[in-house]
Amino acid sequence: SDTEKGTYPHFMLKEIDEQPFVMRRIIKEYQDENNELKLDGDIRAAMQACDRVYIIACGTSYHAGLVGKHFIEKIANIPVEVHVASEFSYNMPLLSEKPLFVFISQSGETADSRSVLVRIKEKGYPALTITNVPGSTLSREANYTLNLYAGPEIAVASTKAYTAQIAVLAILAVDSARAKGLSLDFDPMQELAIAANAMEILTDQKDTIEELAKNYLATTRNAFFIGRSSDYYVCLEGSLKLKEISYIQAEGFAGGELKHGTIALIEEGTPVIALATQEEVNYAIRSNVQEVVSRGANAMVVSMRGLEQDDDAFVLPHVHELLTPLASVVPLQLLAYYAALHRDCDVDKPRNLAKSVTVE
Ligand code: G6P
Repeated sequence: SDTEKGTYPHFMLKEIDEQPFVMRRIIKEYQDENNELKLDGDIRAAMQACDRVYIIACGTSYHAGLVGKHFIEKIANIPVEVHVASEFSYNMPLLSEKPLFVFISQSGETADSRSVLVRIKEKGYPALTITNVPGSTLSREANYTLNLYAGPEIAVASTKAYTAQIAVLAILAVDSARAKGLSLDFDPMQELAIAANAMEILTDQKDTIEELAKNYLATTRNAFFIGRSSDYYVCLEGSLKLKEISYIQAEGFAGGELKHGTIALIEEGTPVIALATQEEVNYAIRSNVQEVVSRGANAMVVSMRGLEQDDDAFVLPHVHELLTPLASVVPLQLLAYYAALHRDCDVDKPRNLAKSVTVE
């Protein structure tokens, strides 16, 4: 059952493995009988009526929100801001005339996000909650809800909720694009299905990733994740996973920004994990890898089929360029998992963390 580990040693590993099935469930739930994408008409109308989307979230859900901004701006041509809830509630930016607030929350109970919801409702602005828990506070108090259908997530470190959030945000972006009459050059449901298959291939490569975790992360004090464009957002999530469960000091960085300061931290043997899934920036990220290698870094490049080079440590199956986070995050989740395991950390219940934080 969803709330039992079964043969798995940890919920986190089970939940990582469930991701392809969650993708397929989302595809089914958001499809009509003609296999066409289907979304609540009121949500479509709210997206059409707004002049800007404000995504509000915390932690891993915030990282999914960054990918969501990429989708909504690139696919639907609607401007998006993404804010950490705890900052937004005390330091609200100037808002556009017709904002739509989108709350992303696995649990639907995070107090920091709720505090923003209460404040924007006082001002009369509309809110959509994207959550894994339909009857949760953030779902009940918002005007609209989109469900994640990921099934209960037990491990403190979020995995399948993150990829579910990304898939639902892609569906929201595509629906908004269609409502605006924008034509798409890809079939979104087919591309999501391809991503689900890629995730399944990746979850079958645990031995390879465990070896990489042992080689790069077993004894290190710190680690860096670098990427450009949407790879950068996945780097933020990969580094958060590693911090949360292995206690390795990790930082996700935009490839080009590293040289403006943080590169001072690169020493002989410092692990630098680089994502290279975006053709547009493939050359640029590889020169960032050269910069750190020449300062002694132990670089691990995770690239995508079609963009790979000889020395890459790991090559992802090819997926649509917008959906690469669904694939690239899987090895990063597994790297964190095996790093924690080999460092004797409590994977499912890391110190100082709670699954859902209901205080501000
Ligand atoms: C807690 C959890 C994180 C999670 C964050 C937001 O800090 O430890 O894993 O990302 O809350 O949770 P939410 O339920 O709002 O997505």
